[in-house]
Amino acid sequence: MKIWICPGSFDPVTKGHIDIISRAGVMCDKLIVAVGENKFKKSVFTAEERVDFIRRSLNGLKNVEVESFHGLLIDYAREKKAICIVKGLRAVSDFEYEMQMAFLNKRMDEEIETVFLMTNINYSFLSSSAVKELALHGGPIEGLIPDAIIDDVRKKFFK
Ligand code: PNS
Repeated sequence: MKIWICPGSFDPVTKGHIDIISRAGVMCDKLIVAVGENKFKKSVFTAEERVDFIRRSLNGLKNVEVESFHGLLIDYAREKKAICIVKGLRAVSDFEYEMQMAFLNKRMDEEIETVFLMTNINYSFLSSSAVKELALHGGPIEGLIPDAIIDDVRKKFFK
């Protein structure tokens, strides 16, 4: 069974992420969406909320599981017997950081590949940070994140 991992902070998940998850899902037998913590970037949503948001946004994708993980991604990938890490790329600016991560992960485990999917052009401008900034100021977030989570994202900023 070919298991792939799609890691990220997903703070919160966007339509761009869901597009990458859907496309990666058809390339493997099982895709694990792994919600991680970038220790140098404080998350607005808890790991439980982020996992729940993704689960509610999958629209019946059958071979996709969502979990959170701690520690190094490569250790988690090994534990899950994954053969591949998949990430989305929006622009050259993403590439530099992602290439560094891919090299470091490869250095720690030669057997696990990293592949990149180019984001859907419609979402090339979209990021979780932009969504949070819009939500914070009461701006329009419809169409940027899955409909199922819009109310919860808004609520976080207007309690
Ligand atoms: O959506 P992001 O911010 O690109 O996600 C980053 C994440 C959580 C996937 C990344 O920070 C990560 O893999 N963290 C776990 C620690 C790790 O393995 N870092 C890479 C090697 S130094």
